[in-house]
Amino acid sequence: MTTEELHVDPAERNWIVASIMLLVVFGVAVAIAGFMLGIQVPTEEQRVDPRTVAQEAPWSNPGVRELVPGEEYEVYILASRFSFVPNTFEVPVGARVTFYVTSTDVQHGFKLQDTNVNFMALPGQVSKLTTTFEEPGTYSYICTEYCGLGHAVMAGSVTVTEPGGNA
Ligand code: CUA
Repeated sequence: MTTEELHVDPAERNWIVASIMLLVVFGVAVAIAGFMLGIQVPTEEQRVDPRTVAQEAPWSNPGVRELVPGEEYEVYILASRFSFVPNTFEVPVGARVTFYVTSTDVQHGFKLQDTNVNFMALPGQVSKLTTTFEEPGTYSYICTEYCGLGHAVMAGSVTVTEPGGNA
């Protein structure tokens, strides 16, 4: 093979270099988002039967579970046309809060204001994401998948409280 056969036009070479650099930039951005900013892909946590899930623990008693007071919480939320159960609850500021959401009927969405929590709530599947509320206050969550005539009113809110006080 001679150097003549390997000749790459300078313009073409520049585009090849630019394309490779773009891939590197994307890779670094994904790594920063995943490892430093805590942005996670919602995982399919568990399979459930949407017809009976509301009768079975823990979904028969949805809401907040305090694992470590002030530090670690789980929240179980059932989505159905056209409400979330529960549609209001409290957690303390600074705690790690893991959301488990499933649907009893059709496809819904779950988007929590000002956090990384944004996923679909599907019948038969439990979606899970973890977040930490850095500021006290009220954070709304809404259904983001069109699910019928009541879709626009399908919402709820989290009250994030100061340690030992109210928001
Ligand atoms: Cu539930 Cu839209």
